[in-house]
Amino acid sequence: MSIGRFDGKTIVVTGGGSGIGLQTAKDLHAEGAYVHILGRNADKLASAKMALGDGTRSYVHQCDVSREEAVEETFQSIEDLSGKVYGLVNNAAINPSRNDILHTQGKDWRDTLEVNLTGAFNCCKAAASQMLDLGKGSIVNISSVGGLNAFRTRTSYNVSKFGLIGLTESMAIDYADRNIRVNAICPGYVMTELTAPLFEKMGEEKFQDLVRAHAMRRLGRPEEISRAILFLLSEEAGFITGVALQVDGGYHLKG
Ligand SMILES: NC(=O)c1ccc[n+]([C@@H]2O[C@H](COP(=O)([O-])OP(=O)(O)OC[C@H]3O[C@@H](n4cnc5c(N)ncnc54)[C@H](OP(=O)(O)O)[C@@H]3O)[C@@H](O)[C@H]2O)c1
Repeated sequence: MSIGRFDGKTIVVTGGGSGIGLQTAKDLHAEGAYVHILGRNADKLASAKMALGDGTRSYVHQCDVSREEAVEETFQSIEDLSGKVYGLVNNAAINPSRNDILHTQGKDWRDTLEVNLTGAFNCCKAAASQMLDLGKGSIVNISSVGGLNAFRTRTSYNVSKFGLIGLTESMAIDYADRNIRVNAICPGYVMTELTAPLFEKMGEEKFQDLVRAHAMRRLGRPEEISRAILFLLSEEAGFITGVALQVDGGYHLKG
């Protein structure tokens, strides 16, 4: 019986233990995919597996995406468990330093690039060989509105998110004629574990300024980002590659 757009497809979501990634994993699972979540924290992974409800077709892997060998091993076990990877959502990210360059510690710069950008590189590389064997594939890299127009005092994060758009275009052009599509999503602000501490720290007035920076005068919801991710992953987007889609309630309009 057909369940959804991703029936029987193996799809990997990095950082799927919380926030946008968890919502995406749930939605993919509901549409028939074999969903594999990658993350570092075992407790978070265990509750993510519970959140997907039905234990079949859902898998969690403790894997730090910045470690190339660990990623290679994980993708091998993913293939062994449910078959070659069709879809990859590079969603895992950190943002340890909200600073201009003079106040950015070298360690924070390196950690941010290692997870947000090299992590995506590692996963794309491991997935691409399986997708080539499969004869098709779709990758969605989660960038940010800060990956198109820099946020103030976010040097490392901005650079990692600009880099993801470069990675998206590079892979898109290299594999367009091999039936592998690669796109990016640039979300506006969404309330999640990543952003909650920032919102708390900034106080009510600045938070309201940030809300107003979105032309729709509200923050996004994880399910609104997930819906766009699923669209780009799906065959409905079969003629779309190398695109950075802004899902941001009009943040980019600067209205
Ligand atoms: N929320 C927003 O407003 C917003 C706006 C624009 C873009 N984004 C982007 O959307 C994506 C999801 O963000 P979110 O807000 O949902 O954040 P989140 O809830 O903090 O999710 C990020 C996930 O990444 C995982 N992760 C971090 N480092 C990892 C590593 N080395 N290896 C594997 N997994 C790792 C974390 O799990 P562990 O700790 O278990 O590893 C966590 O579950 C990110 O790429 C973010 O930059 C978010």
